[in-house]
Amino acid sequence: MRKKIVAGNWKMNTTVAAGKELAKNIVAALDQVPKDVQLIIAPPFTHLATVADVIKGSVVALSAQNCADKAKGAYTGEVSAEMIAGTGCTYTILGHSERRQYYGETSETLVAKMALALENGLSPIYCVGEMLSEREAGNHFNVIKAQLEEVLFGLTAEQMAKVVIAYEPVWAIGTGVTATNEQAQEVHAFIRKTLAAKFGKKLADDVTILYGGSCKPSNAKELFACPDIDGGLIGGASLKAEDFIAIARSY
Ligand code: 13P
Repeated sequence: MRKKIVAGNWKMNTTVAAGKELAKNIVAALDQVPKDVQLIIAPPFTHLATVADVIKGSVVALSAQNCADKAKGAYTGEVSAEMIAGTGCTYTILGHSERRQYYGETSETLVAKMALALENGLSPIYCVGEMLSEREAGNHFNVIKAQLEEVLFGLTAEQMAKVVIAYEPVWAIGTGVTATNEQAQEVHAFIRKTLAAKFGKKLADDVTILYGGSCKPSNAKELFACPDIDGGLIGGASLKAEDFIAIARSY
């Protein structure tokens, strides 16, 4: 049985104090969230240890937004998977389109990050998604297939079972334009089929696949009702506890 997950990607937002407050407000509202929904929050690196304290003992899990592609050493400014795990994180986002687009993240570095995250006990939330031009050219399935093959197909089945996938069409991120339910469901089913061809149907059926891109309380219900959409990776709407919780109540 796959997990239902609602994850908040805070991106480069909030101070430590504001992040602490946001985490507190989420914990305070947990009685409104169905027990079978796993909530995850992904604050900036600087907040992880502090937020870990705030959510301690609650069902909220902690995630980083990225990790280094090297284990340790002279890599100024980088944060390793081991360091992240040491803060209490159990997840890390990897391959977000903003990292691919603005920080030159490639499949090659993502293979290394994936291995290090898994070695350190972190479940990767691996993001895939096409740009608007790729969708307009009818090339989105090829793009997503390559993102899956290049980074995940070298994993063992045991490792793959720990990975969560997030489908985030780049044209829907932060734009207010959400993929239609049909567009999202079609890609989610394609992702599951692609994983099934490599890892078998049973494993693919158990992989949690999240939708991300302008997901908010007003559209989450319809999206989460689609058979292959298991939850959301939420950006802007995860910065307000009320909206984040409302999304988690949308199943
Ligand atoms: P928005 O919800 O702000 O569109 O961001 C989605 C996203 O990129 C989550 O990782």
